[in-house]
Amino acid sequence: MRYGEAYPLESTWKAMEHCVELGLTKHIGLSNFNSKQILHIIKNGKIRPAVLQCESHPYMTQEKLIKFCKDEGITFTAYSPLGSRDRPWAKSDDPSLFDDSYLKDIAKAKNTSIANILIRYQVQRGVTVLPKSTHKDRIKSNLEVWHFELSDEEMRHVGSLNRNWRACLPTVRLADGSIVSRDDKHSFWPFKEEF
Ligand SMILES: NC(=O)c1ccc[n+]([C@@H]2O[C@H](COP(=O)([O-])OP(=O)(O)OC[C@H]3O[C@@H](n4cnc5c(N)ncnc54)[C@H](OP(=O)(O)O)[C@@H]3O)[C@@H](O)[C@H]2O)c1
Repeated sequence: MRYGEAYPLESTWKAMEHCVELGLTKHIGLSNFNSKQILHIIKNGKIRPAVLQCESHPYMTQEKLIKFCKDEGITFTAYSPLGSRDRPWAKSDDPSLFDDSYLKDIAKAKNTSIANILIRYQVQRGVTVLPKSTHKDRIKSNLEVWHFELSDEEMRHVGSLNRNWRACLPTVRLADGSIVSRDDKHSFWPFKEEF
């Protein structure tokens, strides 16, 4: 099978269900699926997905997808919650959460880091969150989100920063030098749906 051809999602899910039956894993989940694709798995599978892992941060809040997951009893996990700062395909004019004036102000007012505001935002709205760091001190400090709270107004304000901007849209450079999306021609490309 060549890249870009569509191997049926339900066949892959069936193989994952088999792993549960064999006792190789307790739970199975999805990543980068939209709501229609998730419903397809629920309808055609025996085991419901336990979790959906998707990009989320204040510039990509995913309100609708998170509500959909809550209604379906699926745990939502936010990946790239800090905006995936070290992504290789970053462009110089991409927005940066770490330069956001509101996030800077609120971090200063609470005597914490912008990273911790971004992590606390997800925790406080009931989303599991997956920040990454290659530095031991940051891995430790990224856990320090339990000594402060965001008020309802602050939560609303952070959520209002949404601009449906995805950090995680990998690109490739073609032989002619042009840079194009790596995956958007794939028949299962999930991001053409609203959520
Ligand atoms: N399922 C998927 O399709 C998918 C896609 C993307 C990512 N993920 C997963 O999600 C996790 C996180 O995503 P990500 O790595 O893209 O993005 P991220 O966690 O949003 O950002 C990681 C970047 O933030 C920096 N950072 C971490 N803590 C910081 C702090 N306290 N202050 C300032 N900068 C800080 C890191 O630098 P240092 O390392 O220098 O600290 C790194 O450059 C990873 O485990 C990844 O595997 C999953």
